[in-house]
Amino acid sequence: MRTYLVTGGAGFIGSNFIHYMFGKYGDDIRIINVDALTYAGNPENLKEVQDQDNYVFVRADICDREAISRIFTEYDIDRVVHFAAESHVDRSIKNPEIFIRTNVLGTAVMLNCARDAWENSDGTFREGKRFLHVSTDEVYGSLEEDGGYFYETTPYAPHSPYSASKASSDMLVKAYMDTYRFPANITNCSNNYGPYQFPEKLIPLMINNALLGKKLPVYGDGKNVRDWLYVEDHVKAIDMVMEKGRLFETYNIGGHNEKQNIEIVRTIIEVLQEMLSKDDPRRALVSEELITYVEDRKGHDRRYAIAPDKIRAEIGWEPETMFREGIRRTIQWYFEHEDWMKYVTSGAYQKYYEEMYDVK
Ligand code: NAD
Ligand code: TYD
Repeated sequence: MRTYLVTGGAGFIGSNFIHYMFGKYGDDIRIINVDALTYAGNPENLKEVQDQDNYVFVRADICDREAISRIFTEYDIDRVVHFAAESHVDRSIKNPEIFIRTNVLGTAVMLNCARDAWENSDGTFREGKRFLHVSTDEVYGSLEEDGGYFYETTPYAPHSPYSASKASSDMLVKAYMDTYRFPANITNCSNNYGPYQFPEKLIPLMINNALLGKKLPVYGDGKNVRDWLYVEDHVKAIDMVMEKGRLFETYNIGGHNEKQNIEIVRTIIEVLQEMLSKDDPRRALVSEELITYVEDRKGHDRRYAIAPDKIRAEIGWEPETMFREGIRRTIQWYFEHEDWMKYVTSGAYQKYYEEMYDVK
């Protein structure tokens, strides 16, 4: 039975990954999920699997070397899938230091502990061991509006404290591969959306606000472009890279699905109007009049767009979910998980929202 150590598995992409992997491999795998349960982590995301014998949850900070090395001693880990990170650009602008700590130091601890557990006395690594570092397209910086794509060879040029900390963590993984021949891969993915995404990010924030009849805050002119990928397509790509990817390689993941932020907001409004029945009181609240242009994000990257040529050619991965369908599935999930949304937006979220958007 293969054993995965997933970091940050109680967050958005990590919990989707764990559900996908159990759906695909069932009892043939065991997953150890290590998560500190910050504001972004929610054990509820995994309630369907929490009682399985082949699932173990460990609450720990990835910066805690002792706790992490204990996991490697207790379990013979075959694969590390490293998601845990501080992940929101706006928070990184307000409070950069925690991003450096978790994303850079935490990755260094994960690399060290995996190396300690996997390295043979002659400097080679035990057969079949593999570390996958989950990263972002934001490390490449910003593209011009009228052209160009991010390739694996594009030089790093991060702008926000978030992307700078992710770029630093990627560099550490590269250094381990180059120095020790540490068995790793890096994936750089574009913006994800789908179930379990915390409503500080564009898509769930707009869905939640629209259903409450609250303003939809669009930064700047609303024309910044992101390349959106349904989260299930991302987690499938991660599994495929671990199975079929060449060691030491970086793979960009994205679905050629570039959209301006304002288009995203309009699509969400349209799809909500289609999906809400006429007698649902929320239907009257959802309207384009809620769109409100607000002050731009500092250092706001203009455009991101991934060239997924390498992962398609070498691994045969293709995105499967068309954008409108993905948005429908996402909205349907939020309809069915109203309690989840109420829970994650209670308490600390309100304070964050008021400070961030200057509202009471
Ligand atoms: P998220 O913020 O939803 O989840 C992060 C998880 O990490 C949470 O469960 C949190 O509790 C945990 N965590 C945070 N600090 C920790 C620490 N010190 N120790 C242990 N656990 C800790 O993030 P996400 O959107 O699921 O992103 C996961 C990974 O994917 C990140 O590395 C991110 O950079 C990368 N990524 C995200 C996107 C996206 O669009 N969301 C796109 C590309 C890459
Ligand atoms: P976000 O979901 O924070 O992802 P990222 O910054 O990592 O790309 O934001 C996506 C885009 O949406 C980005 O251009 C900023 C913009 N945005 C808004 O216009 N309003 C908002 O309230 C948020 C959260 C984001």
